Amino acid sequence: TPIPSPDLKTCGRATISDGPLVPYTCCPPPMPTNFDTIPYYKFPSMTKLRIRSPAHAVDEEYIAKYNLAISRMKDLDKTEPLNPLGFKQQANIHCAYCNGAYIIGGKVLQVHNSWLFFPFHRWYLYFYERILGKLIDDPTFALPYWNWDHPKGMRLPPMFDREGTSIYDERRNQQVRNGTVMDLGSFGDKVQTTQLQLMSNNLTLMYRQMVTNAPCPLLFFGAPYVLGNNVEAPGTIENIPHIPVHIWAGTVRGSTFPNGDRSYGEDMGNFYSAGLDPVFYCHHGNVDRMWNEWKAIGGKRRDLSEKDWLNSEFFFYDENKKPYRVKVRDCLDTKKMGYDYAPMPTPWRNFKP
Ligand code: C2O
Repeated sequence: TPIPSPDLKTCGRATISDGPLVPYTCCPPPMPTNFDTIPYYKFPSMTKLRIRSPAHAVDEEYIAKYNLAISRMKDLDKTEPLNPLGFKQQANIHCAYCNGAYIIGGKVLQVHNSWLFFPFHRWYLYFYERILGKLIDDPTFALPYWNWDHPKGMRLPPMFDREGTSIYDERRNQQVRNGTVMDLGSFGDKVQTTQLQLMSNNLTLMYRQMVTNAPCPLLFFGAPYVLGNNVEAPGTIENIPHIPVHIWAGTVRGSTFPNGDRSYGEDMGNFYSAGLDPVFYCHHGNVDRMWNEWKAIGGKRRDLSEKDWLNSEFFFYDENKKPYRVKVRDCLDTKKMGYDYAPMPTPWRNFKP
């Protein structure tokens, strides 16, 4: 049986950590009164595709627009804390779906480590992007993508490293600053090597995760996640490099912030707080793009055909503050959803070990 949309009325307390349980509240704002049940979403008519560009290559005009949209979102947190379009509310979506706020079929709902990973995040970004566009009155606004599968994108995109701007996050691990090249395969330990070697290792690793280790859908998407039975096994890309990028950008768990607070990996290194770093949505832009790139390789690399996957549901508030249920089956083609990725070469395709 597929996973039904969580019922926002049954949302409960979440927890921050898996060790000592730290409670956290991240339920969505209540439904508007004219809704009894959450209706199904229909794609609005559109005239022009939103084109997501590589974050390292955008111009100043785009950076200004993007910062403006995020700052308007952040303003809502202060003026209307229960507005579902607010920055904190949007980050809370991730928390609610990952940190235990919903019980479905007798089990805690967790959209990671299974085949729900790709479709959940695709829908999440879809609405996030439309909300940002709405806040700056630009119906063609598109998120940037963190092009970490290309040597030019294997560092924090420079626009996120400008202190004082709204897409800067001071709770990031300082190791990501000033153009440091990242190790896409690292879960925390550091190897001493040259930048060039690191980049070439990263390309080899991309080849492995996209080609060698993911010849068929279940290996790419991750283990089945159905009602009452949730074995946790992530797909190749969810595991690496998706998780290492989170760990790299988040503070070390158990360390202390300058103000003395204990860190639980904030922001990027913990499900409950990941969405509080604007770079999260940029990171997931590329994760989402890898889904398209993987299908483009061909062979048996296609979407899953299981009904339990296709008919699984989530719900989100749209840019008009209305809640909608969405199905996995409706997010398989990004062009039909109204967006696409500006192409970038994929040099990892030639990095067969
Ligand atoms: Cu929902 Cu990158 O995590």
